[in-house]
Amino acid sequence: MNLDDFAAKLRRATDIVFFTGAGISTESGIPDFRSPGGKWTRMRPVYFDEFVSSEEARVQAWQRKKESYHLYKEVQPNIGHTSISDFEKRGKLLGLITQNIDGLHSRGGVSDDKIVELHGSDRTVVCLSCRKEFDPDEVLASLGEEFTSPRCDACDGLLKTGTISFGQPMPQAAMQQAQVWSEAADVFIVVGSSLVVQPAASFPVIAKQAGALLAIVNREATHIESLADYSYQGEIGEFFRQLNPLLADA
Ligand code: APR
Repeated sequence: MNLDDFAAKLRRATDIVFFTGAGISTESGIPDFRSPGGKWTRMRPVYFDEFVSSEEARVQAWQRKKESYHLYKEVQPNIGHTSISDFEKRGKLLGLITQNIDGLHSRGGVSDDKIVELHGSDRTVVCLSCRKEFDPDEVLASLGEEFTSPRCDACDGLLKTGTISFGQPMPQAAMQQAQVWSEAADVFIVVGSSLVVQPAASFPVIAKQAGALLAIVNREATHIESLADYSYQGEIGEFFRQLNPLLADA
């Protein structure tokens, strides 16, 4: 299947699901995780059980947030984010399943009720004991040069950004919604993910097994490339610059 054939399928599709990873945000200036120079090539993740059990791990995790938070505040959505939003405007977007925590899909125009964030969001801080939410700006502003990890002002519980760390339970509502959309999609499009992290990476396979046309748009081949009905290996921005004119009257 070539791009013209794929575009013809998209013009007829009514229940398209997008599944995105960090690769869709690199052209906005946010490094991904596993490309050369990616986040996990420069630092080791802080696992959830470490965060809960070690003050040193919590301080390290909050120090990283302090350093990266300004980046997320300044970055802008790119053509990948806005192109997905255009599918919603055409009434073709059943839902968007993202692994990203940067909030760029929402800022790129996709309605919040059309997005599930499988790995949570960097746009909130939560108490791990009573679930009270806090404004990240205020929490980060309270951290001086030397700081102890922030605690909840209601129950003295541990505060953590709203992202899902390795070893942390997945958000059940988001997982259930992703399952429903994956089973109902007529076209399921993976954009910018290495598909190495489970259980998130199971949704493209679920969609394919449920009868969806599976497309994968990514710089490098993934381990399920053989399942894809359509595969584009290249830059995401370039992909949408080529695709969008073919959908103009869709
Ligand atoms: N165009 C096309 N592909 C790109 C681009 C780009 N501009 N930039 C990066 N990519 C591709 C990379 O080649 C890589 O295959 O996007 C993929 C990003 O993969 P990862 O860095 O592994 O990111 P992701 O798949 O989102 O990771 C999943 O891992 O650490 C956890 O919670 C984290 O949500 C994340 C999860």
